[in-house]
Parts: sequence; structure tokens; C-alpha cells
Amino acid sequence: MKSILHQTLDRHGTDSVKWDGLERWFRLKSDVLPLWVADIDIRTAPAISEALAARASTGEFGYTLFSQDAQRAVRSWYGRRHDTEVDSNHVLFSNGVVPGLTHIVEALTEVGDGVVIQSPVYPPFHELVTGLQRDVFDAPLIQVADRFEMDFDALEEAMVQAKLFLLCSPHNPVGRVWSEDELKRTLELARRHDVIVVSDEIHADLTFPTQGHVALNRLDSNVITVSAPSKAFNIAGLFASYIICPNDAWRKRIIQVQNKHHVSPTPFANTAIVAAYTDPRAERWLDQLRAELEEQADYLVGRMNEALPQLTCFMPEASYLLWIDFATLGLSPDERKKWLQQDVRIFLSPGLPFGESGQTFERMNFGTRREILDEAIERLVRQIAADKQPQ
Ligand SMILES: Cc1ncc(COP(=O)(O)O)c(C=O)c1O
Repeated sequence: MKSILHQTLDRHGTDSVKWDGLERWFRLKSDVLPLWVADIDIRTAPAISEALAARASTGEFGYTLFSQDAQRAVRSWYGRRHDTEVDSNHVLFSNGVVPGLTHIVEALTEVGDGVVIQSPVYPPFHELVTGLQRDVFDAPLIQVADRFEMDFDALEEAMVQAKLFLLCSPHNPVGRVWSEDELKRTLELARRHDVIVVSDEIHADLTFPTQGHVALNRLDSNVITVSAPSKAFNIAGLFASYIICPNDAWRKRIIQVQNKHHVSPTPFANTAIVAAYTDPRAERWLDQLRAELEEQADYLVGRMNEALPQLTCFMPEASYLLWIDFATLGLSPDERKKWLQQDVRIFLSPGLPFGESGQTFERMNFGTRREILDEAIERLVRQIAADKQPQ
């Protein structure tokens, strides 16, 4: 199979948030390199495109149920890929993972209840909790040697005050794939303090071949999982996601909230889930992509350490996001934003919205062609050197 990541896909002019959003939302010229929002610059697996084209050719686009084939596809995927038995009747459609998390928090907690998160974490985690007038209890991750780890004391302290825990597994932005031990300890604390655990596993299927993701519902049949083929197969714009909720009473409450918000799938969401999770060609494509992403991460971290020793980053264990510490440059978040966009001319995701500890960080999306990454590094090197010249 030809390389997936290194094939050219020009997304300019496709209404892509990542590429066209720079000009439309931020008034930036098209020479700024977009290395931010979490989708990647490749076509999806041919098996998925073909299935969608076949669905489009039917001309039938009426209101659509979540298909039983899609529910069974999720079940079969978890059995094959995650060694976990899922009852297809427990799989609900969700029009995105963030809407799924939001509907779960709305359904299973009350205004003023506590919800635990582990910052730095994908910003909608705190935004959705505060947006629903629930209280955030943060148990920040800690940096230990060359990786981030959970702080179990902080986690227990937060859980004592909370009703629900939003786990990010694998973790965006720090790139950790949690070990079975870490997950077991987390579950033990949650059981001790009667906390509902909701695991966002949207990046799970992009875990690198040298790592092993443990689906949380393999360790505890009571947890709620929210996931999608969206990151793995790069189809985020289809909003084809799902919630796996084995607890009947909770599932009923989640469905009530989903009905209130008029959640329903498009015909293409059903088709995409079935093709991604049941066509063996899609599975082979995904395994190649995972291997290519690991190789790309390895290359990028090596180049960063060599060319930009003033910045710090660790090898991620999954997906295509690199969490980079710019502390030594001594810039405030606002100064760094201006410097990156106007001087360096690259666009990264600023770290502060991920939590206080993110204020010296930026997140780089490396799911693009290698020339673009090389060019981004070159621009950083050049600007840092230029800044050192006497004015
Ligand atoms: C951890 C995590 N959850 C959810 C999402 C977004 O999911 P969706 O677009 O399906 O709401 C992302 C996207 O980057 C993510 O990293």
C-alpha cells in the first residue's frame, strides 16, 4: 500500500476549518501553516469513500434511525480490536463525541454537582461542565521524567467532591496511553467514592503499534464509553459518533436528554460507521496509518530536539498531537500567539485553554505531510535566530 500520510491532499478551498478557517476566522494569510485543529491532511480509507458514494447514489436521504448494522459494527469492532464484549443494544448514536459527553453530564448530574477532569485536557472538557453549571474539580496531571502521569492523591481528593469523572483515554494533549495499572487504580477510586466514569476514547484506535490501549469497559462493565471512527479514519466532519452505556437507567436518562436536543444520525453516519468497523480493507488501512503516525512522531520529536533544544516535547504514545513547552522563550500566551502567527507564521493550538499548566505550551498537529513539518521547524529556527540579532 502507498504511504497514506505522504500523499498530497490540498484542503484549501474545501471549507476546511483547519485550512480555510485561518483566513475566515482569524484573517490570516494563506502562507501561515495550519498545525492546529485535530483532523489530518489525508483522504479517508477508500473503503469508506466507496461506501459513502454508494449510499449517495441511492438518492434516499430522509430522516434516519441509528442503524442496527451500525450498532452491530461497534460491537464487532470492540470484540476484534479491544477484546471487549459490547451489547449492541447498549450503543447509542451521538452527533459528535463532545455532544455525547455534554448530554451524559446533563443527564447524570445536577446543577452544582462536581465533575472531575485532569488538566491539561481538551478544552471542551471544562467548557461543557461549566456551561452546564456543574463545578469542575481538577486533578492535574504531573510531569514525571519524560512523560505525564496521573496524580492519584489529587484524583482522590477531587473524586470525594464529585459525581462524575471525564477521563480522556488516550489523553489529548499529552499523548499518554494509560496503562492497565493506572486505569485499574482510577476505577478503584471511582468505586470507593461512588463516581460515574465516562471515558472519551476518540483517539484509542490511533494508539501506536508499539503501545497497547486498554478499553476501560474491558476492566469495568459499568463505565460509559464515548467514541467514534472520526479520528482514526479522519471523518470528523461526518459527526458519526456513539455512546456505549450498559447501565439501563443511565441510558434511559441519556436518551431523554438526546431527544430534548433532537439528536439523530444522517444516513452517511450509519454508512461510515459500518464501513470503518466492518470492511477489512479499512482495518488494514488504519493499521498502516498507525504505523506511519508513530514513525512521523519519532521523526518529529527527533528533529525538534535536534533543531530546537530550547523547546521541550515528549514522544506521544498515540494519535497526531505533540504537546510542546515554549517556557524558555519567556513569552506570555498573548505574546507567543502574536509571535507564532505574525513572525514565525505557523498556527498551533495555544496551551492555556487546556488548563493553567498549559500556559507555556502549544499543541502541534503533525498529521500532515513531512515537508510541512520540516518547514514549520525551519521557520521556528529562523525566527528564534532572528530574535537574537541585535536590533
Ligand atoms: C479527546 C477528544 N474528544 C473529543 C473530540 C472532538 O470530538 P467531536 O468532534 O466528535 O465532538 C476531540 C477532538 O479533537 C478530542 O481530542
